[in-house]
Amino acid sequence: MVARPTDVVLVVERTDPVPTRSRDDAAGCARDDEVTRAIPSDPRARSGVMDRHAVEQELEPLLIELVDLALTAKQAHWNVSGLWFRPLHAQLDELADDVRGWSDDVAERLTTIGVAADARVETVAKTTPFGSFPSGFVESTQVAPLMVERLTGVVESNRARIERLGAEDLVSQDLVVGITARLEKHKWMFAAEQP
Ligand SMILES: [Fe+2]
Repeated sequence: MVARPTDVVLVVERTDPVPTRSRDDAAGCARDDEVTRAIPSDPRARSGVMDRHAVEQELEPLLIELVDLALTAKQAHWNVSGLWFRPLHAQLDELADDVRGWSDDVAERLTTIGVAADARVETVAKTTPFGSFPSGFVESTQVAPLMVERLTGVVESNRARIERLGAEDLVSQDLVVGITARLEKHKWMFAAEQP
């Protein structure tokens, strides 16, 4: 097969010749006995040399932002009040569920390339770029703009990450592209709540 310039060939190597389903399979997570290597057509990347530190510098901050965003979405889900309570309450729960799943994907991409993920409470609190969400009940008219602001922050950071990851690791780039598309959809829905 002749690969086009942007093609990525995935090679899956199994140590267990008889695949068995695990709970991780059902959750869409990589199995421990499965190693996935990406062989991009880019000659530099095809050399097999991945700057893991460079990829870590893109994915670790994203992990922190996603963990913060998931916690914030739940905080808002519980405390939103006022006119648009019901749709925002439901929408914030969907966002929290989505973002938690993406944080898992990003953390497991880090560990897949041999980098330990760090989303400890103290690490998130120290390194998150987002300010504190208001305490107590929050009017629905305030909640939507606050969520749009946070989602915009992650989306803009991700667009720069996508550019940089293109030179480092196309698999990680693809992961961030997918997450960003969904974040932008959530951003649109929260923006549409605003008068
Ligand atoms: Fe709930």
